[in-house]
Amino acid sequence: MDDRRQGRMTKDGIRIYDREDYAGMLHAGELAARILDEIAPLVVPGATTGEIDATITQMVQDAGATSATIGYKGYQHASCISVNHVVCHGIPGDKRLKEGDILNVDVTVIVDGWFGDTSRMYAAGTLSRKAERLVQVTHDALFKGIEAVKPGNTFGDIGHAIQAYVEAHRMSVVRDFCGHGLGRVFHAPPNVLHYGRPGTGPLLEPGMFFTIEPMVNLGRPETKVLADDWTAVTRDKSLSAQFEHSVGVTEDGVEIFTQSPGGKFHPT
Ligand code: MF3
Ligand code: CO
Ligand code: CO
Repeated sequence: MDDRRQGRMTKDGIRIYDREDYAGMLHAGELAARILDEIAPLVVPGATTGEIDATITQMVQDAGATSATIGYKGYQHASCISVNHVVCHGIPGDKRLKEGDILNVDVTVIVDGWFGDTSRMYAAGTLSRKAERLVQVTHDALFKGIEAVKPGNTFGDIGHAIQAYVEAHRMSVVRDFCGHGLGRVFHAPPNVLHYGRPGTGPLLEPGMFFTIEPMVNLGRPETKVLADDWTAVTRDKSLSAQFEHSVGVTEDGVEIFTQSPGGKFHPT
C-alpha cells in the first residue's frame, strides 16, 4: 500500500491527511461559512430559531451537500442555535428572538465526504455592553488559539492561549465541551481542549485537521444539559458565547477552512 496516499495515524490516534485533502476540506468549509454569511440578515428580533434552521436546511440541499447533524445521534436539525445562556447544542424551534439576544449558529455540512464545521455569534438588534464584550473576547480567544497552531507546538499550547486570554478578561472557559479532529469523519481524536498548560498534549503536525470552538461564560464555567438531552446551559444562567473554525496544520502554520467569504465572521 502507498503509505503517502493513505495518510497515517499518530500514536494518539490522530489522522495525518495528505496534501490533496486540504482542497476537500476547503470546499466543505467554504459552504458552511457561506451559509453562516447568508443567514445573517435573518437574525432579527421577532424571528424564530426554527425559521433560521429551515433556511439552513434548504441551503444545504440547494448546494447538493448533506447536513452532518440531521440524524446524528438522533439530532433532527441542520444547525444548533444557542441563545443567551445556552452554551451549545440549542435545538431550533418556535422561540422568538428578542432585542439584545446573542446567539450562536453552528452548521456542519458534508461535501464530497469532507466535513466542514463552523459556528459564530449573531446579535438580534442592539447588544448590552456586557454581551458585546463577551462576544468580542470569545472571538479573539478563538484567534489566540488559531495563532498557536503550527508544527512543533502542542494541543496544550492552543488551550493555554485561549484560557489565558479569557481569564485575563475575568471570564471563564467551558470545560465540559471541546473541539475535535474532523476530516472524513465528524468527530475524531483528539479532544481539542480550550484550556491547558503550554507544551502538554500531542504535538501538532502538518496534515492534522481539527476544530477549535471555545465556549466562554461571563460567569462560572459549569454547565448542565436540559431534559431534551441536547441543550447545554450555564448553571449560573450567565451569558455564554462561542466561535468555531475548522483548521488544518500546514508546513509553516495553519489554514482556516471555514473563513467567511463575505468577511462577516464577527457580528459587528
Ligand atoms: N457542530 C457541533 C460541533 O461543533 C456538533 C453538533 S452535533 C448536533 O461539534 F447533533 F448537536 F448537531
Ligand atoms: Co465542532
Ligand atoms: Co460545530
